Amino acid sequence: MNRPIVLAIDGPAGAGKSTVAELLANELGYFYFDTGALYRAVSVRCLEEGVDLSDETRLGQLVGEIDIQVRPASVEDGRQIDVLLHGRDISHAIRTPEVDAVVSRVAASPAVRAGLIDLQRRQVQGVGTILAGRDIGTVVCPDADLKIYLTASPAERAHRRLVQVGGAPDRLGEMEAAIVERDRKDASRAIAPMVKADDAVEIDSDGKSIEQVVRLIRELLTERVATPRAAEAGR
Ligand code: CDP
Repeated sequence: MNRPIVLAIDGPAGAGKSTVAELLANELGYFYFDTGALYRAVSVRCLEEGVDLSDETRLGQLVGEIDIQVRPASVEDGRQIDVLLHGRDISHAIRTPEVDAVVSRVAASPAVRAGLIDLQRRQVQGVGTILAGRDIGTVVCPDADLKIYLTASPAERAHRRLVQVGGAPDRLGEMEAAIVERDRKDASRAIAPMVKADDAVEIDSDGKSIEQVVRLIRELLTERVATPRAAEAGR
């Protein structure tokens, strides 16, 4: 059987999803796709076009015409991936505080979510795929082989984000407040809210190193996936 293994990693902002997913993908030879980049790219477009975020018809039109490409990083300038919007490099533009401030509103739009779902499902490829986001285990890939819900306390997540962006220590409180507000919006929206899938394994990364989290997920994958696959191979 050649069906790709699907690993879903969901959880709030700054829990370490992308770092863990990238390491795992490298170790396992899996393809990693950051679904948050899509919502961020749509947000960049909305900001540039001055779109009224309460106008579902306009959002549906915009997402229907949008051309977003996500590729492995081609430049070593701190980016994790290349993101192109109609061919233009927006890899850094998707990470600005302006985008952080609107992305949860954009992501709460039913038209935007409906417009991005097929693009996400089409990413499942090769021997294995890791999709990271908020609703992968619940909506995008409910049949994923393993679902992880990665969390950490807001203080820890704000601290990691501060280090990531090289911000001054006195911005910690402001960052934590922004993260908590984004979590609140993501968890309370009517469609595909951020929530742990019933069959997901929750990992609290507070006090755990990235390596420890990666090892834990590898062990779970071996338990869940390698055993049934080995059994299939022997059939
Ligand atoms: O990297 P960070 O954890 O800050 O966020 P992200 O994964 O880039 O996602 C940015 C935003 O996109 C989230 O706060 C959600 O509002 C939205 N998102 C979503 O709704 N569903 C996903 N599968 C991924 C992201």
